[in-house]
Amino acid sequence: MTGWGIERIQHFDPGDLVKDGFVHFGFHDRNGRQFAIAHTRHFLGQVGDADRLDWTVARAPVFPDVPNITADLEFPMFIDNLADGSLLVSNFECARLYRIDVERMRADLLVDGHVLGMADMGNGVVDAAGSVWVNEVTGCRVWRFDATGRVIGILGTGQPGFQPDSADFDEVRFNWIYDIRRGPDDAIYVLDSRNFALRVIDIPARRVVTIAGTGSPGYTGDGGDARQATFGSDPTARFDGPISLSLDELGNAYIGDRHNHVVRILERATRTIATIAGNPAVDRERANDPAERDPGRLNLPQISSMDYHGGRLFVPTDLAEGHGDLIVLRRSYSDTAPSRDVPRRQAGSRGRPDDQPGPEPAAASLAGGGGPARHHPMSSPFEPAALADALIDAEPGAAARRNEIRIVRAPGRVNLIGEHTDYNEGFVLPAAIDLEIRIAYLPAPDRRVELTRLDTGDRDGFDLDTPRARNGSWLDYVAGTAWALTEAGLPLTGLRGVVASSLPTSAGLSSSAAIELASAWAMLGDLAETVDRFELARRCQRAENAYVGVNSGLMDQFAESCGVAGAALFLDCRSSEWRPVPLPPDLDLVVLHTGSRRSLSRSEYNVRRSQCEAAVSALSRLDPSVRSLRDVTPGALAAAAARLEPVEFRRARHIVSENERVGATVAALEAGDLGAVGELFAASHASLRDDFEVSSPELDAMVEIAVAVPGVAAARMTGAGFGGCTVNLVRPDAVGALTATVREAYPTRTGLTPMILPVRVAPGAGRIVWQRLI
Ligand code: GLA
Repeated sequence: MTGWGIERIQHFDPGDLVKDGFVHFGFHDRNGRQFAIAHTRHFLGQVGDADRLDWTVARAPVFPDVPNITADLEFPMFIDNLADGSLLVSNFECARLYRIDVERMRADLLVDGHVLGMADMGNGVVDAAGSVWVNEVTGCRVWRFDATGRVIGILGTGQPGFQPDSADFDEVRFNWIYDIRRGPDDAIYVLDSRNFALRVIDIPARRVVTIAGTGSPGYTGDGGDARQATFGSDPTARFDGPISLSLDELGNAYIGDRHNHVVRILERATRTIATIAGNPAVDRERANDPAERDPGRLNLPQISSMDYHGGRLFVPTDLAEGHGDLIVLRRSYSDTAPSRDVPRRQAGSRGRPDDQPGPEPAAASLAGGGGPARHHPMSSPFEPAALADALIDAEPGAAARRNEIRIVRAPGRVNLIGEHTDYNEGFVLPAAIDLEIRIAYLPAPDRRVELTRLDTGDRDGFDLDTPRARNGSWLDYVAGTAWALTEAGLPLTGLRGVVASSLPTSAGLSSSAAIELASAWAMLGDLAETVDRFELARRCQRAENAYVGVNSGLMDQFAESCGVAGAALFLDCRSSEWRPVPLPPDLDLVVLHTGSRRSLSRSEYNVRRSQCEAAVSALSRLDPSVRSLRDVTPGALAAAAARLEPVEFRRARHIVSENERVGATVAALEAGDLGAVGELFAASHASLRDDFEVSSPELDAMVEIAVAVPGVAAARMTGAGFGGCTVNLVRPDAVGALTATVREAYPTRTGLTPMILPVRVAPGAGRIVWQRLI
């Protein structure tokens, strides 16, 4: 009997670039080459040495440094090799199948499914004769093409149904097909998901035979006859039941049963079925523990795909909306079952270990206490399906259009270093974080934008064609964004939506830029994908400057629009050049909220800005080439000290030295020199406290408490200042100690309750593809 053990558990983020080739789905081809597919970022890439991408295929270059093959890959699904070595990539959304010629770096459209009347497209697999088999997921049919893309045949009537016995090609009734694979016997295996069955297309006999599943949902049959097994349990759920299929070289089939949260094996030799991983008692919020060794205890909330290769089964799970685990199961041929006595949890592992409490609810968040499900249970709807329900509650007419509901998101940000430098044409190093604002909405035929806040129930709206004056409410950010986008000539659509947030407001995490970007993505609809992300950030900055009336720089909107998972963003605010700076993988990012809301921030912010401008005008009288503090060196500033007011001198000294620290921090991060990063953060904080005077006693206390904890590599205030949060780079095994120390020491020193927010670095704003996560 084959045994299965856990080789590895890795927390991953679909926005992460590579991470073993399993961004969301992934695939090893028959030569062992690895590919990564990011559905939501619409690209496929080949994973080369050192986990870097060799090339990508996408509509537009996703990574400037990686060669790009242009193809309209919206929601890529799966790949296989044609006989000539070129790759097949199917595109669910547009029902298109591309052939990618890697040698010549080009993509050719092989099949345009919409022209053929296909509803959508699942996988493309090639049989021994070189024909291409494609499953039409909701169309309940399997299509067969020749290598040039010509239709050879269609299996099934397109009418859902179930025949327990073998049926002729043309008569077969499939019901939603989530996966299709070629077996070592050269047959084509079809995961007939809503029939809860696995079928085999016997090509020479022109028959389709059911080899597992009764056609009824359930969870029985372990250890018994595979034909009597049941999978899934809810025949009406849109994405229920058996979701993914793999086959090994022995002809064993593996089925990811998404509803029952288990992976089952159908042993070819014995025709029996057994569960090899997972536990139906899932906790949807819990990440898997890397210390876990028992496949039976794995938490598989949403198996998203599987890939069998070389004795390993790769099982990505799609935990709380995008953040998941990649589980690698390893086959062994011994009779011994995997050990069951390994401790369940280890301090310091990600995903909220039991001994490391998550953050308290965000008191002042737009959602009144929300947070990403990865961190803690939601007190208001945040998951896509729950948001859709909330929209239906707010807009009863939406019930009939549930499948048209769209969801967009925009992250908050922390700034690692480079504070108040953006409006001085200097350098910044922010990162988007996985605390975010989401809007679920339905486009409306009229020109009204109507939004309901889910935290307060407030409903407010405006007409896109009627000028609206700002009135100090949260809607100003949305109306300002509409105004700035319209000013740029971008057409907007009316909508009805609900807004949820896990991002604390007035915390220095830039929830205002997040509501701007989320609403921009909503009002722009499909057009948003085509607008340059940097340009979109500029439009949102314009909304904040000219409509809301805050004279902020570009950093926040830039970080939240252009964010790259796992990387900070180094931006030159003069040239607009930027590049991602990957964060060391062995460091966690922890945001510590002082519990003091930012007061005076708006007026003091504008005062700082004018003091910087005053310093520039004095310095440019000495040297006309000085256009901003960016042009001033520390030496030149020291030489001009007597010509500046003392306060202007100190403001300028902060900016000039901070710009130097940003460059030094990038170099230190790239060199892995955490000691240097710690010193640079400390110097930045001191400069903001003493020279720029934007810190507060609470921020100072929080930094002092944090840096005293062993394993805290760097800490400083983040954002505009005057209260809010600190940013901390922490070794994962020190997060527990930091949490405990802050909880104890901070209230004693300040009388305030801190909020501890472990965050991950997230991708920039965009649409959440939630109904088609299959
Ligand atoms: C706020 C502004 C940014 C930036 C920071 C300080 O977040 O919106 O543009 O100036 O303060 O670095």
